[in-house]
Amino acid sequence: MSMDPAVTAANAPGAALRIPVHLGVIMDGNGRWAKARGKLRTEGHIEGVKALRNVVELCINYGIANLTVFSFSSENWTRPKDEIAFIFNLLRRFVASDLQRLIRNNVKVRIIGSRTGLEASLIRLIDDVEAKTAANTGLTLIVAFNYGAKAEITDATRQIARAVAAGTLSPDDITEATIERELYTAGLPDPDLIIRTSGEQRISNFLLWQAAYAEFVFVDENWPDFDEASFVRVLQTYTRRDRRFGGVEARKP
Ligand code: IPE
Ligand code: IPE
Ligand code: MG
Repeated sequence: MSMDPAVTAANAPGAALRIPVHLGVIMDGNGRWAKARGKLRTEGHIEGVKALRNVVELCINYGIANLTVFSFSSENWTRPKDEIAFIFNLLRRFVASDLQRLIRNNVKVRIIGSRTGLEASLIRLIDDVEAKTAANTGLTLIVAFNYGAKAEITDATRQIARAVAAGTLSPDDITEATIERELYTAGLPDPDLIIRTSGEQRISNFLLWQAAYAEFVFVDENWPDFDEASFVRVLQTYTRRDRRFGGVEARKP
């Protein structure tokens, strides 16, 4: 039993937390976590995977239906080659070590992002994880890997333009729903809450379209330090927010 005051308060009767239907997380600060401890950046990424495993479990325990985590951005290709290779291997290792547990926990995995530029074996792995968890009905874990929101919107635009060029879609019939159907997140609700760790206060090309009315909570902890107490503090902050969606009255969730 944790003695952290935030956790204790949240567990107290009457301290009901509002639970987002879709939580997005920009897992940032692995490198700084490592640097602060005189370790290699790659060690920060290893610790980051542990924090991810923990947050997946927390989402299950707190009844969050959809969790999207930003794990590699289309702009992260500008990093040193060996760091990129390490992150890619970490994805492979995560799948190898955690697939059975994810299946046991009824987690449905979906990987969003561009598949161009990924090795064929990695694409097979991604397809395999999605297929093996497709029938699960618990938490949907969406991993944004090789993901960039501008690329996603560009891809969607291209698809729509093709349909118009082929004569199967009239420009007059293009609605927000037409665009949403072409995004990698088709069929998912928009995120209610987006957390970014490490003290940075920016979106870095994450879910630009989908975040139109998301609440943002920025926390100072680096991602490997993000634990249950941090998670509960964020949910408490979210619980206090009024979401008006352009209207006058606050709406749930
Ligand atoms: C987040 O941590 C993980 C990825 C972007 C892959 P960083 O690697 O960005 O760590 P910092 O921001 O440099 O500390
Ligand atoms: C955002 O973090 C991407 C991921 C967490 C995967 P970055 O570390 O890449 O973002 P910037 O460069 O600080 O904006
Ligand atoms: Mg970073």
